[in-house]
Amino acid sequence: MDIQWYPGHMAKTKRLISENLKLIDIVIELVDARIPVSSRNPEVDGLIGGKKKIVVLNKTDLADPEINKLWEQHYKDAGQPYVFVDCIKGKGIKELITKIKQVMKPVMDRDKKKGRMNRQIKCLILGIPNVGKSTLINTIGGKSTAKTGNIPGVTKSNQWIKVSSDILLLDTPGILWPKFDDEVIGLKLAWIGSIKETIYDREEAALKLIEYLREAYPEKLHDRYKIEFDENTTDLEIMDKIALKRKLLARGGEIDYARTSEMIMDEIKKTTFGKISFEWPMEQL
Ligand code: G4P
Repeated sequence: MDIQWYPGHMAKTKRLISENLKLIDIVIELVDARIPVSSRNPEVDGLIGGKKKIVVLNKTDLADPEINKLWEQHYKDAGQPYVFVDCIKGKGIKELITKIKQVMKPVMDRDKKKGRMNRQIKCLILGIPNVGKSTLINTIGGKSTAKTGNIPGVTKSNQWIKVSSDILLLDTPGILWPKFDDEVIGLKLAWIGSIKETIYDREEAALKLIEYLREAYPEKLHDRYKIEFDENTTDLEIMDKIALKRKLLARGGEIDYARTSEMIMDEIKKTTFGKISFEWPMEQL
């Protein structure tokens, strides 16, 4: 998979970050809880310099709770502040606000000692497309998203959203691009529906998905399609079984691989399989 994606966006983000970094206290790096590594750009840490950062794992409603626990431990061990959220239902938003205050407390205390009272914490959201940046901005801003107007020194088009009495959020998130230096990253992004249909081979993505599911979630694969398989069954034979169950046959009775792959990819995107994660901390990427 050779994908050149969003180079323009990255240049824009670099500009946005460098223009506003001086004013920003803390970066919220939004990732998809199902693929916390593949849904981020590793350049982010270099881009934000020494700024404080909270990793926010979104779409926890779709991720495997057991794998979420492994990620929690991973971030704890790394000393990286993190929060799990479900931006649609608003779960974890209070915890995020608390975490922002907690991470910024030493800075705020220091500033208070210097006589700088009523200082506001300014946040910027960064993330690759489709991780839920806009949804988070809407959720965190609440219905009556109070915009504070332009602040001198900030790019004119940007506005600050008042999250709480002492937290402001830049209303324009920074869009990063995913890093496709490994084919597996592209596949995972395709499975969660983040990559446009046209830029991956659907049959390959579906077959690799079967390979992953039979290893990680054999019961879910079995229960979904009511098919039997064991270690001797090949991935392609599993696909054949799925096609036969769903009667996805071409004229002449052969397996219609195009329709079968489309159906499997559609189902995984619609999360018909239930809560599934596609990577965990021990995995080598
Ligand atoms: P972005 O700004 O980072 O690009 O992402 P955006 O907020 O547009 O969200 C992308 C999709 O993800 C949206 O679905 C949104 O509703 C969904 N989404 C955001 N947060 C959550 C969450 O916590 N849980 C779940 N299940 N979904 C979430 P959409 O409008 O249907 O777009 P699409 O799925 O057709 O791409």
